[in-house]
Amino acid sequence: MIFILASNNSKKLAEMRGILSPLGIELLSQSEAGLSIEVEENGSTFEENSRLKALGACDLVNAPCIADDSGLCVDALGGAPGVYSARYGGESCRSDKDRYELLLRNMEGVTDRRAKFVCVITCVFPNGDSIVSRGECPGEILAAPRGEGGFGYDPVFRPEGETRSMAEMDAGEKNAISHRGRALEKFKAKLREYYADK
Ligand code: IMP
Repeated sequence: MIFILASNNSKKLAEMRGILSPLGIELLSQSEAGLSIEVEENGSTFEENSRLKALGACDLVNAPCIADDSGLCVDALGGAPGVYSARYGGESCRSDKDRYELLLRNMEGVTDRRAKFVCVITCVFPNGDSIVSRGECPGEILAAPRGEGGFGYDPVFRPEGETRSMAEMDAGEKNAISHRGRALEKFKAKLREYYADK
C-alpha cells in the first residue's frame, strides 16, 4: 500500500517509515510523489493543521495522504511554542538550534520545567474518509542541550521517567515513547479496523 506523507521533513519521514513499514505501508514524501505544495498552517490546533496538510495533498493525488502536525508545549510558557514550534522566534531563528536556544533563554530562572510533545496524525483517503490519532509525551525542559540524535527540540527535552534527553536516544528508543510513536501506534490500530470494515 502506498501512502503519501504530506511533508518533506526527512526526519519525520524516517521516523514514520520505521513505524509504518511493518504494516506493509510504503510511505512516500510529497516530493517523491511529485507534489510541490506549501499548505498554509493557519489552524489554531494540531488537529486543524494536521487536517489542512492531509487535505492539501489528498486534493492532488489518488492515494491516502498522511499528515503529522506536532510541537512542544511548555507549561510555564502557557503552552508555547505549541503549534508555532517550527516557526518559534520568527525570522530571527533559522535553525532548530536557534529555536531551542531561544526556548532555553525564555526558560532561564523558571523552576516549573514541565512540558509535553504533542503529535496529531491525520490520514485522508481519496473517498473522503479520514482517521485521526493523537499522541503525547510528557517530560521537562533541560537547562542545557544534550545529545546529537533526533531533531527539533529533542536535545532540550527529557521524557518523563528517563535520565537521557530525547536526542541521546536512538531512533528505536525514541519511537517507543515519543508523541509520534504513540500517535502512530493508535493510528495503526485504527487503520486495521478501517480496512477490516471494508
Ligand atoms: P510541523 O512540521 O509544523 O508539524 O512542525 C513541528 C515542529 O515541532 C518541528 O519543526 C519541531 O520543531 C517540533 N517537533 C515536532 N516533533 C518533534 C520531535 O519529535 N522532536 C523534536 N522536535 C519536534
